[in-house]
Amino acid sequence: MNKLTISLDNKGSATDLCVIAVSSNETQLSAFNDQDKLRKGQLSQLLKEGLISGKKGNTSMLPRANSRSPNLLLVGIGDKPLSLRHYRELCEAAASASQGTQHRSVDCTLPTLEVTGVSETQKLIHAALIFQNSLYRYDDASRGKAATEAAPQLANLNLPSLGLGDQAQAAVNQGQATAMGMALTRTLGNLPPNIMNPESLAEQAKALAKSHKLKCTILKRADMEKLGMGSLLAVAQGATASPRLIALEYKGAKGAPIALVGKGVTFDSGGISLKPGAGMDEMKFDMCGAATVLGVMQAVAELKLPIHLVGVVPAVENMPAGNAARPGDVVTSMSGQTIEILNTDAEGRLILCDALTWTQREFKPARIIDMATLTGAVIVALGNHTSGMMGNDNNFQRSLKKAGDMSYDRVWRLPLWDEYDEQLKSNFADMGNIGGREAGTITAGCFLQRFIENDTPWTHLDIAGTAWVSGAKKGASGRPVPLIMQYLVNQSQKEMALTEESTDATE
Ligand code: BES
Ligand code: MN
Ligand code: ZN
Repeated sequence: MNKLTISLDNKGSATDLCVIAVSSNETQLSAFNDQDKLRKGQLSQLLKEGLISGKKGNTSMLPRANSRSPNLLLVGIGDKPLSLRHYRELCEAAASASQGTQHRSVDCTLPTLEVTGVSETQKLIHAALIFQNSLYRYDDASRGKAATEAAPQLANLNLPSLGLGDQAQAAVNQGQATAMGMALTRTLGNLPPNIMNPESLAEQAKALAKSHKLKCTILKRADMEKLGMGSLLAVAQGATASPRLIALEYKGAKGAPIALVGKGVTFDSGGISLKPGAGMDEMKFDMCGAATVLGVMQAVAELKLPIHLVGVVPAVENMPAGNAARPGDVVTSMSGQTIEILNTDAEGRLILCDALTWTQREFKPARIIDMATLTGAVIVALGNHTSGMMGNDNNFQRSLKKAGDMSYDRVWRLPLWDEYDEQLKSNFADMGNIGGREAGTITAGCFLQRFIENDTPWTHLDIAGTAWVSGAKKGASGRPVPLIMQYLVNQSQKEMALTEESTDATE
């Protein structure tokens, strides 16, 4: 995907396509009035005659009036105050309509719109992210699909700085780096499981480490055996593909790191508890948590955020075989706790528990976020709109909820009460790996919580409903990269404010 060249306040030239909003109210925005003046009142005339309209979501094109005026893309915004959802939809409509044209440069004035409860900075982040993201295509011939359409022409985007000065550039950078991270996440997720296996995922991590100066550690089966990762290894044992434990480290600040842990099941057949055949291909997306870790590491390194971040990915394939783990097997995790595998299809938690133990002992993180396409039950509970969030720290969860609302990559919290945890009781081990039919998302969260040591602040995100889209537009979504990026940016700004405060105090 080409990286857009994004400028600020670069007054559009006549060769650009200029995106302006049309309201269905009496009063129009200044971008509209400017163009109307350039065209000697043509726009208000067309509006009066009903040839253009401010109906929400309408887009129409208007050819240039003279050699000094640009072609116009008019976007209807309706007559009500805009929500973030609708603002994003307008940006998406504008990005997609622009790409139907031959224009290489677009001047988009939509961020000048008022959006309820949304800061100027956030408007720019969303616009940059959406335009960049609209260039994503999965059509690399070497990966199995020939380009079906011409590559997008769009190369330059101009946005208004909204009087934000340097902050405008920072916002645009954040939006664009997030979109580039999402593109990596989407491609890793979309790659077929015969190509994207634990070994090649580790190669991808190595390549990312090389291009972005990260530290990369890869553990193989023998290393994991030495560490006693009996739970992770039980999932991998039926597969021909050999497992990997991948760690990436970005050190933009001193102090204990934030750790991201992502489920990397490159294909989930269910194992001996085999899944039904219909839709099983979508279980190639069962490594989208892992792909998010890589996408975020890339974006954080691009932005050079002043934070210390580690990303850990347990990567395995879950396959049925003569030597595969069976229901009834009891395994010992790295933590020493024993697990009765009652269902080999509840494999995500079995690899995450050992990855969590290792991450805590290896990196002593200040906080942990794990991301996993963990349960079908979260889709029943929350659908495809929001990720399930569970954790042990109210402030941490509040910050993530806020980052989710800001980025429109939303999360909703579920409880981890003792009563749910008790569903994991086993007669033959410290716990079973399933807790029955009821509250399946929560009992999976309770299982993971048993592996959090010393009350380290921890959040589990169940992204089974949000990480990919099914149906005609089947493909990885790039979520929750925007959520995690917004959280990390918020954190780094908080840290900066605190450091400034403490230097002030000592002066
Ligand atoms: N990767 C699946 C979860 C999943 C299922 C994600 C469908 C998206 C769509 C996970 O490994 C799994 O199989 N979970 C089981 C757990 C059950 C056996 C307790 C599930 O959700 O059915
Ligand atoms: Mn499974
Ligand atoms: Zn799975």
